[in-house]
Amino acid sequence: PLPDYSPAVVIGTGYGAAVTALRLGEAGVPTVMLEMGQLWNEAGPDGKVFCDMLKPDRRSMWFKKRTEAPLASFLWLDVANHDIDPYAGVLDRVNYGGMSVYVGRGVGGGSLVNGAMAVQPKRSYFEEILPQVDADEMYGKYYPRANAGLGVNHIDEDWFETCKSYQFARVSRKAAQKTGLKTTFVPSVYDFEYMKKEEAGTVERSALASEVIYGNNHGKRSLDKTYLAAALGTGHVTIQTLHQVREIIQQPDGTYTLVVRESDALGNVLATKHLSTKYLFLGAGSLGSTELLVRARDTGRLPRLSEAVGQGWGTNGNVMLGRANHVWDTTGSLEAGMPALGIDDWDNPTHPVFAEIAPVPAGLETWASLYLAITKNPERGHFTYDAASDSAKLQWTPDQGQPSIDAAKSLFDRINKANSTIYRYDLFGDTRAFENRFTYHPLGGLVLGEATDNYGRVKGYRNLYVTDGSLIPGSTGVNPFVTITALAERNIERVIAEDGVRA
Ligand code: FDA
Repeated sequence: PLPDYSPAVVIGTGYGAAVTALRLGEAGVPTVMLEMGQLWNEAGPDGKVFCDMLKPDRRSMWFKKRTEAPLASFLWLDVANHDIDPYAGVLDRVNYGGMSVYVGRGVGGGSLVNGAMAVQPKRSYFEEILPQVDADEMYGKYYPRANAGLGVNHIDEDWFETCKSYQFARVSRKAAQKTGLKTTFVPSVYDFEYMKKEEAGTVERSALASEVIYGNNHGKRSLDKTYLAAALGTGHVTIQTLHQVREIIQQPDGTYTLVVRESDALGNVLATKHLSTKYLFLGAGSLGSTELLVRARDTGRLPRLSEAVGQGWGTNGNVMLGRANHVWDTTGSLEAGMPALGIDDWDNPTHPVFAEIAPVPAGLETWASLYLAITKNPERGHFTYDAASDSAKLQWTPDQGQPSIDAAKSLFDRINKANSTIYRYDLFGDTRAFENRFTYHPLGGLVLGEATDNYGRVKGYRNLYVTDGSLIPGSTGVNPFVTITALAERNIERVIAEDGVRA
């Protein structure tokens, strides 16, 4: 049961939240974590915790009547999506008109659904986006700490060259090399030794059974197996699931009271509860944490919150695209759900791009090469409070996504030219070649040094902190979770040392 009071409370259970809870627990601080999603540890009727990506059921998505997969169509056929029963599933797609944002729901947040790519940005780019953060400390201390805590591992490069699972990546690499571009292996939190055994047929398949965006039944070191397991192991941390924080109220003595809505997995509200705390950490992700503070400011609950709350949001320049492969360049029907290679053209002076070579794990030959390009898009969105729905709305217009397309097009036009190939026009529900209407990498909203001080302390309020991707100003140049983790490590170390956080 939920206590009335806990010295520390962490909202959410994603990367920033998990790091924070572990370090609080190690410091002996009793900490309650509140997560709106479920704990994913019980098998369904098919004997699996997570559902099949090719035959999704209600476990796939967060309260939808039909799945909303990133690849909307194949040969313009509506084969990717399926009707499902509304349920507290693991992947949410939050639709804001001009932009849709994919986020994980459950104990572990995005780590349950993501592609496991654990990439550090180039140091020069990190210094550009967060100039006030000591890069020596980040690269010398906090990135290594994050990588260790996350269980990051590297692919056996000899195996990569011969395995079936990454033939798709080798085909894309060949096309990149023909263009004079360099590719780079990406570290991962998916256990590559397990994947080897999957291909050898000695263990149950997960990444090789098309599992990725709706959860992995094996092989992935998601946060529930790393940071959160360690946090629970301190004996000072507890997690309450299906508890959504709605309001943050400050009491005259400076403590915070949270209004928390408890539901069941079918969406029925069971209770509205109150939990008070002295130290409150927001780790609900870019959308979740920003919404809580935008609502608190604009309803007058926390009126001293700054104008910077809700600003500086970006898509990490995400744009997805496919290329049509020549008939002889087959990828095979087996594609590992976890990417292992990226095209690194980030040093390009006009259009920096880091393009991950993504699988199309359809279980059949598709003659397609898919990419998620991360580009340097300077456009930023912001959130406004909508009283009618009591929610924060993202303000982002389709034209703000154009710089992402321009950059990706510049790179992939070169690749197509060098290889005499063309784009795929059948993947996104209409005939567009570039899909920039969604992002996997929402960043910002409560930017470090603007809505907070340089360590995530919210401006205007004591003992109120932001720990997650909302601190990052819209772009990391690579997949973001290692940076979110490392920044959270840095900030919580300082806060525990300086702010007198204790039981
Ligand atoms: P995160 O979003 O992880 O966690 C927030 C948690 O808070 C969620 O569990 C949510 O349910 C909960 N919450 C929200 N509001 C709440 C409320 N009011 N009350 C209670 N709980 C609340 N990144 C990367 O580096 N490599 C990769 O390969 C990929 N691939 C990828 C694929 C897909 C499909 C997605 C959707 C995302 C990725 N990402 C990725 C992105 C990565 O997963 C993402 O950047 C991080 O999960 C963000 O971490 P945070 O700590 O910010 O929050």
